[in-house]
Amino acid sequence: MKKLIIFNLKMNAPDLSDWNGDIKSSSAELVVCPPFTHIDKMANLLKKTKIKLGSQDVFWENSGAYTGEISPVMLKNLDVEYVIIGHSERRQYLGETDEMIVKKTRAALKTGLKVVLCISDLNQLEKDFIENENLVIAYEPLWAIGTGNPCKPEDAVEMAKNIKKILNVKVLYGGSVNSQNIKDFLKYEEIDGVLIGGASLKKNEIKQICR
Ligand code: PGA
Repeated sequence: MKKLIIFNLKMNAPDLSDWNGDIKSSSAELVVCPPFTHIDKMANLLKKTKIKLGSQDVFWENSGAYTGEISPVMLKNLDVEYVIIGHSERRQYLGETDEMIVKKTRAALKTGLKVVLCISDLNQLEKDFIENENLVIAYEPLWAIGTGNPCKPEDAVEMAKNIKKILNVKVLYGGSVNSQNIKDFLKYEEIDGVLIGGASLKKNEIKQICR
């Protein structure tokens, strides 16, 4: 099965020309998650490629008085296919709770979006998460995110096995993945892909990762 590589641009304005036709991979499904402000432009650009579009967050209602929020249906209408939910930066800086994350996950799945649910430990994998073919879990140890210090691939494999004992899902690893270490993770069948932050901002890195 094809590995899944998700590029999370976080709150960085992408150079859209990085995402033109020369980014491709024959062995992986590629997804890029720009900030909300760039989703529309990115959607147009990606039409000429096989890269899929993702968003970095979503709200749990489809419309109404929720200032500042973006709904699952709004994303779906912009050709968004994947949505990252529960990223540790949102849990840390925005106070997102497991309860909010469960609501977002349910709403996004109901709308037909594919959810990349980020967790840093097994406790966050609440029992009531629906087993759904459109749910992917990203294991991201907090100390590995943005530090240049990834976790040992064997430890990520162990965690992936534990997650798969609870839910029948794809499991990604995230935290300081780059072109140098990506193979060390993807060579394991238990690891279905990676979630990449910092390395998504360098065109050369993106190209090498995809290769
Ligand atoms: P990083 O970020 O690749 O910069 O460590 C990963 C993430 O936050 O998903």
